Amino acid sequence: MLIRSLIRALVARPSIPKGRRLHPFIKLLSERRSIRHFFDRDIPDDDLDTILEIGRLSPSTANLQTWSFISLRRAEWEKTFGSPIPFGAPLAIAVCVDLDRIRRAGFETPPYPLSMYTIGLINACLAAMNMQIAAHALGYGTVMVSDTGRVGFMHTRWAREQLALPPGVFPVCTLLVGSTRMEALLIPPRLPRELVAMKSAYTAPDSKLLNQWYEEMGAVVRAQNPFMSIHRRLDMYLKELPRVEAELARLVYGDESAPHSVSSAGKGDDA
Ligand SMILES: Cc1cc2nc3c(=O)[nH]c(=O)nc-3n(C[C@H](O)[C@H](O)[C@H](O)COP(=O)(O)O)c2cc1C
Repeated sequence: MLIRSLIRALVARPSIPKGRRLHPFIKLLSERRSIRHFFDRDIPDDDLDTILEIGRLSPSTANLQTWSFISLRRAEWEKTFGSPIPFGAPLAIAVCVDLDRIRRAGFETPPYPLSMYTIGLINACLAAMNMQIAAHALGYGTVMVSDTGRVGFMHTRWAREQLALPPGVFPVCTLLVGSTRMEALLIPPRLPRELVAMKSAYTAPDSKLLNQWYEEMGAVVRAQNPFMSIHRRLDMYLKELPRVEAELARLVYGDESAPHSVSSAGKGDDA
């Protein structure tokens, strides 16, 4: 069962209709994989600028651009975080929700912290994804991390302290970029399209297909580390969630992120 699931995971390929799969951009997207091994080689400024510019051009709710990108090269990262960039990457871009800037610009941010955080989160994630694709298109290996290295939403408090983020600015995830020769051997098991893409109405998942995917996920985890199981890996996340939840709740609902109004403070106010 385990071997069969592993083989199925290993041979899985994207099922893109003929005549489309060689489209250069479709090919680029389908071949992106998270890379966790990088060479010790710096990234030219022009490449970093290109990646950041693509982030800046991303779509956002009402064009509010509620994001900030903090790029750190190796030495800067080590100075800030006191440890190397995870996986030996030469460049990290910390992607943050930024609800502070629009307030300073004069937009009245409504007193709905969860909605505002969600808007910020959606926009920041879209920008992160665009930057990941841009870096991949430039030939770099990339991975987004939100837990590894403690530089995303899983460690909001710590990451905010290290990066000296003001109220209203929350770390979401960090994009690691670097040269690599690693080719991903397999596509981490994707849910079959029948389970995620529905026609006209929601359909409950077919349990046989769902079990099959779950077994593939388990087989891949075991193949990477015989002492690990999918349950143990998930448990490692789950046991952190009470802390994560409390930190996020404090930030999103607490004093720090209490709704700001500029109606009395005026445009460009710093307070
Ligand atoms: C928001 C986000 C956070 C992630 N955080 C981590 C992380 O902390 N550590 C890690 O090794 N991979 C992380 N990943 C990478 C996922 O594990 C990876 O995207 C997933 O397994 C699918 O593999 P693929 O990207 O190679 O297709 C993250 C991905 C996303 C989108």
